[in-house]
Amino acid sequence: MVTSTVPLQVHPLIGRASRAGVTAVIEAHLAIAKGKPMRAAISETLARHQKLGGNDRRFVAFAVRELSRHLRLIDLAARARGRPASSLKLAEDQAIFRYAIWRRVVTGASVEAVMAEVGLPGPVRPRSVQDAVIKDELAKDVELDFGDDPVERAAAKHSFPNWLAKAIGEQAPDGSLDAVLAALNREPFVTMRVRPLGTRDALLPELIAAGFPVKACAELPDAIVLTDEGRAIFESRWMKEGRLLVMDLGSQLLADLCRAKPGQIVVDYCAGAGGKTIFLADAVGPTGRVYGHDTSAKRLVEAKERTAQLKLQHVSFPKVPRLDLADLALVDAPCSGVGTLAREPDQKWRLTREKVLEFQKAQLEILEAVVAGLKPGGVIVYGTCSLLRDENDAVVEQFLARHPECALEGPVLRVWPHQVEGGGFFGARLQKR
Ligand SMILES: C[S@@+](CC[C@H](N)C(=O)[O-])C[C@H]1O[C@@H](n2cnc3c(N)ncnc32)[C@H](O)[C@@H]1O
Repeated sequence: MVTSTVPLQVHPLIGRASRAGVTAVIEAHLAIAKGKPMRAAISETLARHQKLGGNDRRFVAFAVRELSRHLRLIDLAARARGRPASSLKLAEDQAIFRYAIWRRVVTGASVEAVMAEVGLPGPVRPRSVQDAVIKDELAKDVELDFGDDPVERAAAKHSFPNWLAKAIGEQAPDGSLDAVLAALNREPFVTMRVRPLGTRDALLPELIAAGFPVKACAELPDAIVLTDEGRAIFESRWMKEGRLLVMDLGSQLLADLCRAKPGQIVVDYCAGAGGKTIFLADAVGPTGRVYGHDTSAKRLVEAKERTAQLKLQHVSFPKVPRLDLADLALVDAPCSGVGTLAREPDQKWRLTREKVLEFQKAQLEILEAVVAGLKPGGVIVYGTCSLLRDENDAVVEQFLARHPECALEGPVLRVWPHQVEGGGFFGARLQKR
């Protein structure tokens, strides 16, 4: 188990809640309620609202995520006020009301401050709910009833579907479900990786002298965390030179579980946009080789561009991944993403048990393909950003039951989001004899 030196704290309100910003939040929330994925809803809404400044734009993205994060709590608070979503005629009314309740109940804003943001004139038409009604409801002091069952209480308090809170609770360390769900609702800090390997401690004083709010992560020698909102670092020369790469700490820990050594041959079988490909390329160095593979050609375009930009000539993306040559294959499998809900909170309302089992089926199929091609002595590192048994231990157990030639090597990696900044991850090393 790994622990973090990074203090886990609740982010204060990010950006500025202007009337125009609030209008954009409500529009994006409406689009999500109609089925649009959150990222697309935010970027399309911001594209329509060109006039919003940087502070407003940050607020919009933050508030939209927050409405998805706390949706169940917000609707519970509306119901406790006698105004369930179903009692409001228009979807626009529901969205305005949800926003107002989030500001009042979750962020603790005063009734006056909320009314200045949502009261007429604007935001959003059509609307049928009157200002006086919103104001009266916000002014009410109501107790929320989370029920008696401890798991369902945690689910209601932290706005998770009951089934999902139960499934996370079955795996979470004893007594930690509340803390895990709370961590999955926190605006994540940005973590980065310093390149080349072993240069973090020399670079850190330079970054601090340049005014960037950065800190070393105790878990890994090359990881740093941005302890404050500091966008300027993304424009810095270190970023442009490829000395800093944004990467979740959990992702870095999973890539680190590969223990790739200089000169080794590695296949990154689910390379996606190439985050771990670059990590592995740095670890094996120019005397080694990394073969990237993914079924999504679109994602691989980004991986190819990134590795080319960094001039990593020992990385290639052949049509057939050279598992026969590999010392190690990383399977960073497609999964539910339950460990990274802090970034994609709308997913908790889209995910179902059935979808989790579909992921499990795909994960086992990918492992079958990899083990078939891997040479004896090769190691598969299987990983997910899920916290669910069905996608983690159950996959490893089923795979090992079918493959007596393979064995678990060393302890599995379990990254819990309440202990480590940057999400929940799982990893296991499986050696083929
Ligand atoms: C968790 S993401 C990988 C993220 C990537 N490793 C990174 O660090 O940025 C999972 C990836 O698996 C890919 N994938 C899905 N099914 C696959 C399959 N059968 N074989 C290989 N890749 C697959 C998806 O396209 C997706 O890019």
